Amino acid sequence: MGRLLNYLLLLLLVLLVVVLQVNLTCAGGEDSSSSSSSALFIFGDSTVDPGNNNYIETVPENRANHKPYGQNGFFQQSPPTGRFSDGRVIVDFIAEYAKLPLIPPFLEPSAEYVNGVNFGSGGAGILSETNQGLVIDLKTQLKNFEAVEKALTEKLGEKGAKKLISEAVYFISIGSNDYMGGYLGNPTMQQLHHPEEYVGMVIGNLTQAIQELYEKGGRKFGFLSLSPLGCLPALRAANPKGNEEGGCFEEACALALAHNNALKAVLTSLEHLFKGFKYCNSNFYVWLEDRINNPSKYGFKEGMNACCGTGPFRGLFTCGGTNKVTDYQLCDNADDYVWWDSFHPTERIHEQFARLSGMDPLTMLDHTTFNNSSSSTSSPVLLTWLMILNQILSRFTNT
Ligand SMILES: *[C@@H]1O[C@H](CO)[C@@H](O)[C@H](O)[C@H]1NC(C)=O
Ligand SMILES: *[C@@H]1O[C@H](CO)[C@@H](O)[C@H](O)[C@H]1NC(C)=O
Ligand SMILES: *[C@@H]1O[C@H](CO)[C@@H](O)[C@H](O)[C@H]1NC(C)=O
Repeated sequence: MGRLLNYLLLLLLVLLVVVLQVNLTCAGGEDSSSSSSSALFIFGDSTVDPGNNNYIETVPENRANHKPYGQNGFFQQSPPTGRFSDGRVIVDFIAEYAKLPLIPPFLEPSAEYVNGVNFGSGGAGILSETNQGLVIDLKTQLKNFEAVEKALTEKLGEKGAKKLISEAVYFISIGSNDYMGGYLGNPTMQQLHHPEEYVGMVIGNLTQAIQELYEKGGRKFGFLSLSPLGCLPALRAANPKGNEEGGCFEEACALALAHNNALKAVLTSLEHLFKGFKYCNSNFYVWLEDRINNPSKYGFKEGMNACCGTGPFRGLFTCGGTNKVTDYQLCDNADDYVWWDSFHPTERIHEQFARLSGMDPLTMLDHTTFNNSSSSTSSPVLLTWLMILNQILSRFTNT
């Protein structure tokens, strides 16, 4: 009897130690009621880049580590971090809600990976052709994830790394640059591909990326849908049908909608086909469009013009004066604006969306957290990606 009791006590002790260790790996977990902090891995473009582009060879347009970026002073650091915002971006709020520390840029030499890491790169696309040579494209971001996987295995052992990877949240925000610079700004690409075909290609490559992460053990995915691209100050200013009133660039909006619809359909399919696949998709398009058109309804004063930039709508991307044109104007109060610069929303928009849309990794994964499905689906696009999806999936399910 005594022996059994001793044995049970020992077992209890072992269990306790294990439990304590698990708690210790959850950094910042004051709230011990749940496994509050799974790691957060972020892939994307300037909507999420926390400063990776500071470390690569690129053009000034792809960098934001200069004033007035970061001017609201949240990050007390000089030069500014490189976020394309007056302060934080959406993933900073998501990390905060998940009780995680700030997620570091992958290229930051001192970056720790145990809470996740951010691979995002301003200007990056899903297709390698988009801004090629000037950004870290999605494929390269996935390669970088492999390096992190390796480092985690060394640090935590194979079992520990596998656990971290399978419990982590994978947040993906990318695609805008494929349609703006990669397609509308690239006559050659337009000659090579019809819009529907092009969307199919972009979605096909995004689907492959999701599948790759799933095969590595990723199970929980979050997506920021594309915004109404044609209503970005830069695209309003570039609208070929532009008039004094400055309507949105319709083709750009149509591409973003087609992309969002196709992604939505892909995710629905993946949920059925990939065992344990969980996701949360957002409808940033509708949400932001509403703020652009009715800023005062949401406490903003200006939904059309950027706070920082020059020319019509401050749509010329000169904020900070590091590009060819050095002239720029800056508004008095960025919190009154939907748009910080010609392409990027203010911190206030990032914060509102993260908060109102329930972008909390702990709760968001029962997906359909988000209201309002987008408008009608265009069937040619659907057909194209369905074909691609079938090809990918047949390969996957056969093995
Ligand atoms: C991925 O994009 C490339 C162009 O970069 C294209 O040739 C290829 O067909 C795409 N793959 C899928 C599955 O759509
Ligand atoms: C959903 O759409 C309705 C009308 O279509 C709008 O009034 C509402 O604000 C939208 N909600 C969100 C969360 O975007
Ligand atoms: C969805 O809409 C309902 C009612 O309109 C609202 O109560 C709820 O908070 C909304 N959810 C999100 C995530 O916006």
